[in-house]
Amino acid sequence: MYEVTLSIPFATHYEGSTMIENPIIMPEQFRLNHPAIDMQHEVLFALYNELKISQENQEQAFELGDIFLGLNGYVATHLLFEEELMRAFHYPQVADHLEGHRRLTERVTLLHNRFKQVKDLQEKQRIAQDVAQFLWDWLVQHIAEIDRQLVKFLNEQPVSA
Ligand SMILES: [Fe+2]
Repeated sequence: MYEVTLSIPFATHYEGSTMIENPIIMPEQFRLNHPAIDMQHEVLFALYNELKISQENQEQAFELGDIFLGLNGYVATHLLFEEELMRAFHYPQVADHLEGHRRLTERVTLLHNRFKQVKDLQEKQRIAQDVAQFLWDWLVQHIAEIDRQLVKFLNEQPVSA
């Protein structure tokens, strides 16, 4: 029996400024039966909620900026976590999976950069809405199909991943 060591920490929660008080809501059908991945997905749904709440409540731009920053960092952490698991277990569909991750990273980075550049609050709110919408669509599609396949593979491995 051997152990797989991951260089990415087992990130189970995000200690951002505002999200601890808000409930983390992930629709039950997105639970994949992999505790670490499920927990990280819950955080991404929570960040989605944070973006929506702040955006709808006409929060000031710095609130949205905090959430955006948290999202950017957490997306990177989560995707690296999955990528290390795929490499450690020689997952055969790694290329397709990485392509999905690249799409999310690229869009979040692009919108975050735009968010930092614009000064107008309404424009910032529009960008936050765009990233929230993209994140939601991506999570729904990626978890339901791509991550489900990965978790099925991981859970079939003799050494638990
Ligand atoms: Fe994934």
